[in-house]
Amino acid sequence: MSGIVQAARVAPKKIIIDCDPGIDDALAITLAHGSPELDIVGITTVGGNVDLAYTTDNALRLREFLGLPEVPITAGSEGALLRSRVNAAGVHGDLGLGEARLPEATLPVRAGHAADFIIETLKAAPGEITLVAIGPLTNIALALLKEPRIVGWAREFAILGGSYTRGNFSPAAEFNIAADPEAAAIVFGAGWTVTMIGLDVSRQALAVGKVVDRMRGMGRLGTDLLVPCVEFYGMVTAEEGPAIHDACAIAYLIDPTLIAVEPAVVEVETAGRFTSGMTVTHFDLGDRVPNALVGTTLDVPRFWDLVLGVYEDVARRIGVV
Ligand code: BDR
Ligand code: CA
Repeated sequence: MSGIVQAARVAPKKIIIDCDPGIDDALAITLAHGSPELDIVGITTVGGNVDLAYTTDNALRLREFLGLPEVPITAGSEGALLRSRVNAAGVHGDLGLGEARLPEATLPVRAGHAADFIIETLKAAPGEITLVAIGPLTNIALALLKEPRIVGWAREFAILGGSYTRGNFSPAAEFNIAADPEAAAIVFGAGWTVTMIGLDVSRQALAVGKVVDRMRGMGRLGTDLLVPCVEFYGMVTAEEGPAIHDACAIAYLIDPTLIAVEPAVVEVETAGRFTSGMTVTHFDLGDRVPNALVGTTLDVPRFWDLVLGVYEDVARRIGVV
C-alpha cells in the first residue's frame, strides 16, 4: 500500500442564487463561481439595490466577465408584493456596481419569470438544489405562493437578510427584509427552515485596508471589479471597511463551520410604524418549533482566507489584460 489516503471527492452543492447586484451581490457571485464546493445552476434577479433592469444587466455583465456563460439568468420582480419599492442606489451607485464598469453583455437573459425558473429547477431535482437569496425576497415569495411544494424540493434555503440586533435600512430593519416585508413574512412562514445570515454576522465581514490591498494584486478581477466595488462601498459606509454582506451567505454554504448558527423562531414585522421589516427573533423557544437557523458569529480570519483564496483562483483564470 502506498500509504496515501485519497480524500473522497464530494460532489459540489448545486445552488440557485436569487440576487440584486449590487456590489456585495457581485462579490458573492464571484465567490460562488470560484468555489469548487459550489455549482451555480441558475441566477435569478430581483429589483432591490437598484432597479431590476440594472440588477439584471449587472448579472449578465458579471456572467461574461467571470466566464460562466452556461449559467441561465432569469429576471423576476421589479417591485415589492404590496408596497412601493425602495432602493439602495446611495450605497451601490446609480448603476449598482459602484465605480466598476464591466463590458456590455452579449448573451441574453433567459425568457420567463424568476419564480417559475425556481419552481421548475427545484421540481426537476427534488432534494438536490440549495436556494440562496441575497436580495429582497419577492421572487421567493411568489414562487412559494405559486408552488408551496418547493419547500420540500429545496435541499436547503439560506438568505442574507435580517438582524436580531440593529438594522441598516432603519434602526429595526435590514434592507432586504425592509424592501419587501410581506414577502419576507411569507418566506419565514412557509414551513421550511430558513438559514438567516443577517447583519449580526455580515457586519463582521469588513473589507479592511489589508483585504483591499490583496485585491489590488488580483489582475483584472481586482482592477475592474473588486477594488472599484469595495472602494465605492467603503466611501459610503461609516465603518472600518465596507461589510461584504452577501458573501457571508455564500461562505456559509461553502463551509458551515465559518458561521455559528442557533435555532430560533423568526417573525417579520409588517405593521410596525417604526419597525416595519424587523426580524423579531425568539431564541428562547419554549415549546415553539424553530423556523430558522440564525447566524450569530463569523470566524473572520478563516472567512477572509477562504474568500481571498477563491478570488485569487478566479483572478488567475481571468488574467491580467
Ligand atoms: C443587504 O442589502 C443590500 O444593500 C446588500 O446587497 C445586501 O444584500 C445588506 O443589508
Ligand atoms: Ca444583495
